[in-house]
Amino acid sequence: MKFFADTADIDDIRDLAETGLIDGVTTNPSLVAKTGRDFKETVREICAIIDGPVSAEVTATDAAGMIAEGRLLAAIADNVAVKVPLTWDGLKACRALAQGGTQVNVTLCFSANQALLAAKAGASFVSPFIGRLDDIALDGMELIGEIRAIFDNYEALTTEILAASIRSPNHVKQAALLGADVATIPPSVIRGLVKHPLTDKGLDAFLADWKKTGQSIA
Ligand code: G3P
Repeated sequence: MKFFADTADIDDIRDLAETGLIDGVTTNPSLVAKTGRDFKETVREICAIIDGPVSAEVTATDAAGMIAEGRLLAAIADNVAVKVPLTWDGLKACRALAQGGTQVNVTLCFSANQALLAAKAGASFVSPFIGRLDDIALDGMELIGEIRAIFDNYEALTTEILAASIRSPNHVKQAALLGADVATIPPSVIRGLVKHPLTDKGLDAFLADWKKTGQSIA
């Protein structure tokens, strides 16, 4: 499973990139607004740090506008994936941008039929939002499973399932069990994946016993 960092925060991205565990980045207008920085400059910087797709979202709502914005974003760097919303116009823009050789991430996906449309429109990625479905007492993971089953029925559907709106380490595990191709994860949740109290307790005990030996490795 690929891990994307779901953030526009450059410091977080640099720090996470050092682990070698990050395969891409996703941003959205809300994440960019949080940084208070210039959008295109931020995308350029992220693209230089990360050797993988960096999603940058259009803000036009009509197909022509999305295509024009998408082309500008794609020109920032070779690894920009243009993010468009899952609307009719978004699907038209997806088709046009994908045909021009741009990677497209179709976002705000909340149903299996929407995901099927994104795949048929040539999306490189479709982003089902797990957490936001859970928020309204629906089942985000059920959606991931449905999309996986549908895509696996048809060889021609090569769009990657990008599990988004991930809120917890458990979401990551469930998405991986269900075969999501990618999880885009907030930095705090990525850091949370490594944590286990028995790891900390075990390490403390090993170090205490090692001290008793009076030895040093170096
Ligand atoms: O990638 C989309 C994601 O950022 C949405 O997450 O937590 O705002 O639902 P959230």
